[in-house]
Amino acid sequence: MTEPAEVSALELAARTAIAYRRETAAAERTPVAGYAAIHAAFAAPVPEQGGDPASIIAELTEHATPGIRAQTGPRFFGWVIGNSHPTGVAADWLASAWGQNAANVSAAPAASAVEAVAAGWLLDLLGLPRESSVGFSTGATVANTICLGAARSELLRRQGWDVEADGLFGAPELPVLIGADAHATVFVGLKLLGLGARRVVAVASDDTGRMLPDALAEAVAACARPPLVIAQAGQINTGACDPFEAIAPIVREAGGWLHVDGAFGLWAQAAPARAHLTRGVELADSWATDGHKWLQTPYDCGFAIVRDADAHRRAMAVSASYLPPPGEFERDPSAYVPELSRRARGFATWAMIRQFGRAGIAEMVEGCCAIASHMGDTLGREQGVTLVSPVTLNQFMLRFDDDDAVTLAVVAAVQADAVAYIGSSQWRGQWVMRVSVSSCATTMADADLTIASVLRCLAQVRGG
Ligand SMILES: Cc1ncc(COP(=O)(O)O)c(C=O)c1O
Repeated sequence: MTEPAEVSALELAARTAIAYRRETAAAERTPVAGYAAIHAAFAAPVPEQGGDPASIIAELTEHATPGIRAQTGPRFFGWVIGNSHPTGVAADWLASAWGQNAANVSAAPAASAVEAVAAGWLLDLLGLPRESSVGFSTGATVANTICLGAARSELLRRQGWDVEADGLFGAPELPVLIGADAHATVFVGLKLLGLGARRVVAVASDDTGRMLPDALAEAVAACARPPLVIAQAGQINTGACDPFEAIAPIVREAGGWLHVDGAFGLWAQAAPARAHLTRGVELADSWATDGHKWLQTPYDCGFAIVRDADAHRRAMAVSASYLPPPGEFERDPSAYVPELSRRARGFATWAMIRQFGRAGIAEMVEGCCAIASHMGDTLGREQGVTLVSPVTLNQFMLRFDDDDAVTLAVVAAVQADAVAYIGSSQWRGQWVMRVSVSSCATTMADADLTIASVLRCLAQVRGG
């Protein structure tokens, strides 16, 4: 039974969270304390004795709050970060309070069943083959790794090699081709899977980061064996999506496996006005995407989707005599991720899809894209401001006075102005201001406030 003191800790956490979320929209200048100050506030010897639950939560709140950045605020454009929508947060609170270990169906029947339903909804919303299997991971980095693991398993199995049993020593060589503007995290998966970050072949891309089909065809033709090809929906600087309709047949004809890193861009599939950008993506063999970006779930939540469910399970499933097997029509969550004990991510996923519905998701994705276009186009019309490539999705880049130092100074000034948070990036060797619009809390009014801040900061930088 939960003691009154523990109940008050739960109530205090709920009240604190609600107060924080109410004030976040108005918050300026977060965080007000940095790493060193927060570390100093927490640093202490291991407590010899335990404490009172509510006091511990009060202490955590007091010491951590100054270092909390308002990532859920409506003018956070620094990275592709959704909103940790309250409905998803509430579902996630329950996942924690229920303490469900979503390892297997026997341990957690509700968590397993809700994951199964949410998995089906995801395939429907994203327009992906209904026979695909879905693993609920921490995020797209791990989802990519899972999908690449399934690809490795299947491509080697077709050549008579059981990589799960025999590893990679002595295995047939597995050629890996990857778009030149792939996200850095994909290389984590390649490293972990023994495919090597350096031995992969980069396929040339265009000015916006889209893989060039002719370059891919040439690279595929040079492969001695069927390749694993890694494409993407949503380049992190430009938002560009690879031309899947053109590249999927090239990979298929070579007997290869096409994987798509669609951490955020795959959600264009759920917005009819943007779905042309990802046309043909359903022809791939596997897809990674995030819940904690465009579906607005709280962290952490990603999805590894694999057309060949057997390959997916072969690469991931755990079996042990003490773990009861699932029934014929039941889903074992651990069969699709490299974890046994883990959070029941299906609850927040289900809750967010239930929150928005198909129409709401389409509207939200389209809304972010429209805001990005408005900001990019408006600022790009200003003298000395260059919109580096046209806004097609939710990401765009600006360069000021075609000068690295001016551009970085404007980014720093905008961060100091604290109306909005925007970061920098490099594109084709030059510094840019990189803007990501991915929160359901952001409105056109927020866009206009941000535009005004950027222009004010530019004038300030120019004025010295
Ligand atoms: C295209 C792309 N792939 C992968 C990732 C990594 O995703 P996560 O941070 O959820 O692991 C990101 C993150 O921004 C991304 O934009």
